[in-house]
Amino acid sequence: MDLQSIKNRFGIIGNDPALNYALQVAAQVANTDLSVLIMGESGVGKEIFSQIIHNLSSRKHNPFIAVNCGAIPEGTIDSELFGHEKGSFTSASDQRKGYFETVNGGTIFLDEIGEMPLGTQARLLRMLETGEFIRVGSSKVLKADVRVIAATNKDLLKLTQEGKFREDLYYRLNTVPIRVPALRERLEDIYLLFRKFVIDFSERYKSNPIQLDEEAKQLLVAYPWPGNVRELKNMAEQISVLSTDKIVNAEKLSNFLPKANQGNRMPMLASAMESAPVKSYNASDASSSNTEREILYKLFFDLRKDSNDIKQLLFELLQQQGTGNSMPKTNAPIAAEGFAMPHSYATANNPMPAQENNYVNYPASSGAPVILNNTDGLDLHEEVEESLSLIDKERELITKALQKHKGKRKDAAHELGISERTLYRKIKEYDIDE
Ligand SMILES: Nc1ncnc2c1ncn2[C@@H]1O[C@H](COP(=O)(O)OP(=O)(O)OP(=O)(O)O)[C@@H](O)[C@H]1O
Ligand SMILES: [Mg+2]
Repeated sequence: MDLQSIKNRFGIIGNDPALNYALQVAAQVANTDLSVLIMGESGVGKEIFSQIIHNLSSRKHNPFIAVNCGAIPEGTIDSELFGHEKGSFTSASDQRKGYFETVNGGTIFLDEIGEMPLGTQARLLRMLETGEFIRVGSSKVLKADVRVIAATNKDLLKLTQEGKFREDLYYRLNTVPIRVPALRERLEDIYLLFRKFVIDFSERYKSNPIQLDEEAKQLLVAYPWPGNVRELKNMAEQISVLSTDKIVNAEKLSNFLPKANQGNRMPMLASAMESAPVKSYNASDASSSNTEREILYKLFFDLRKDSNDIKQLLFELLQQQGTGNSMPKTNAPIAAEGFAMPHSYATANNPMPAQENNYVNYPASSGAPVILNNTDGLDLHEEVEESLSLIDKERELITKALQKHKGKRKDAAHELGISERTLYRKIKEYDIDE
């Protein structure tokens, strides 16, 4: 099944390369029995991934169950998962099957796996390794054939270092890691998702969908979305109910975004808002702060576009490099396959042994506006250093592309996956000899 059909079938919106990659891995791994570990911040859509994997697998007609390990009290989780015998603890008046027994032949989704108590982790590891388990209060070994998909928004590797998560279980679960990118790493998808949610809402309530004016769109994209798609969806529904205007401007939109977060990653927008509160969003206001803000916006969006161009370009390069082995074949852990991955996979969440991977090592870029002249109290030291090497890489790639195409900008731009205009600007900017 191709990516677009998967997106249509599961209602997934977005074209970000890292999201596409995650979907591709999910589709490839679906028809195996390998354990999958889905990582990503809260609200990025991890649960949908578990459903995709189950529904594209040969187990699709067998049961699927999602268990939130963080929501079950420590005292009962073993019994919930593996069952118990009568009298095995005070309230155990009957024998009871656990989820692994009831889901036999199907898939179990263990959400918030980082919250699983250590004792339960030991039982789970045994289940994964041998397919065997024991009900609480029993000594009889039972067997079940259950595919395990786990998800976490925590850094599991860090938890292993703190002794809160078993290292052996971590590696066992991590056979196929899938990292679902944060919304702020998928800038192009933010407005697409917003449109989807307001349109869904308007269809449900037979009204006209609200729209955002240009400035509001920019604000929407600049907001860091710590609660990711879930937060965006809630906001889109809230604004659909509460907004009295059908075309919403930035000032109105900002009322629906928590102020504390607006300040975090939107220094330029925040300072613009402070220097010209409320009225600065009035289009007819031609004050100097307004002009300044427009320049800052422009700078911001140019930077964003550049960073996305580079992301796209590197992603394509990585895909080319990975041709032939860009997907796991069978049971071998991906890390041992020289798996080509986009940058966002090489995180602390995903300890890919660097020497095993044939991907270019380059600094992570979230697409955020990291290079600012106006650094008002911001410590940008680290980002600036990282960006420099990204610039070096970019310069090198542009030079190579120009050489390859004998100075033909159109062809070079095409190969680099950027517009001719952007290429022209970069040639000037980096003073590249053609
Ligand atoms: N790409 C997407 N397209 C459309 N809807 C999405 C997308 N990603 C997530 N959603 C929606 O966002 C909401 C949050 O997703 P989900 O519950 O899967 O997040 P999660 O990663 O499991 O979060 P948590 O760690 O808090 O459990 C859901 O309503 C889901 O349908
Ligand atoms: Mg979830």
